[in-house]
Amino acid sequence: MFNLDHYLDRTGQRINTALDKLLPPETAAPPTIHKAMRYSIFAGGKRIRPVLTLAACEAVHGRTAAAMPLACAVECIHTYSLIHDDLPCMDDDDLRRGRPTNHKVFGEGIAVLAGDALLTHAFTLAATKAEYVKELAFAAGSLRLIAGQVQDLENESRPATLAEVKTTHLNKTAALITTSIRLGAMAGNASHAQLKRLTRYGQNLGLAFQVIDDVLDATSTKEIMGKSVRADQRNEKSTYTKLLGVEKSRAYAAELIADAQKQLRGFDNKADPLRAIADFFLTRKH
Ligand code: IPE
Ligand code: IPE
Ligand code: MG
Ligand code: MG
Ligand code: MG
Repeated sequence: MFNLDHYLDRTGQRINTALDKLLPPETAAPPTIHKAMRYSIFAGGKRIRPVLTLAACEAVHGRTAAAMPLACAVECIHTYSLIHDDLPCMDDDDLRRGRPTNHKVFGEGIAVLAGDALLTHAFTLAATKAEYVKELAFAAGSLRLIAGQVQDLENESRPATLAEVKTTHLNKTAALITTSIRLGAMAGNASHAQLKRLTRYGQNLGLAFQVIDDVLDATSTKEIMGKSVRADQRNEKSTYTKLLGVEKSRAYAAELIADAQKQLRGFDNKADPLRAIADFFLTRKH
């Protein structure tokens, strides 16, 4: 029987070791910026995106070592997006990954720069192939992740429709999750048909992830989450829970996960980690 807890532990440790090796050391000049970058990277995130990169590589029978720099690149971009997301001019949060947010410790100037530096560093890690760089730049850029963050801000304090919230969530969260999976599959030399299936798996998974994030913001505690809760309410965000309520949001996430699982039907047991991660997206508590 496949054990997801073991898999997440073991893979998470491999990713942390690689990140430690691939990021500039804290002593590199100027130390402040490297301390700030490492502070948020090593604050204890779930590592879901880089795990997905490695699991997707495995699902297509690739060598996960080949996907590791890409896994780290994705985690750098994700962490940058969190540092900036927490800034006073964005969601204005003071707790992240169980610690004070980057700007609370290092000040806003350094936090902005630490985010910039992590984003830039990701491209160094992905630069072994132009297609990896293009894939990452598209997902992180103004047509996807940044588009979503813009829409998220513009949907504050206004009655956004469900279709608008879906677009926002697909952009701000599902795009990077999809790309995490696609990069792993690409590094594992996936066939065109496999890549297509995994892309759809990723989009469903990514949207479900943000729907559940909305639910947890409305229902969980900051001790469990390691980040502020009710932040969406405080910022008058347009979320799934605001539009659909908790129960319908959960049911919708379950539908998305069922579709994601369907995409994996043609894969053998090397896709078991991807199957287990999809279920985990519904049951996760933080
Ligand atoms: C939080 O992502 C931001 C969203 C897109 C909802 P995670 O829940 O994966 O955060 P970490 O990496 O575990 O801190
Ligand atoms: C975060 O969405 C999306 C990105 C950081 C791109 P949220 O604002 O809901 O994430 P949390 O709840 O602060 O982690
Ligand atoms: Mg936000
Ligand atoms: Mg936020
Ligand atoms: Mg949230």
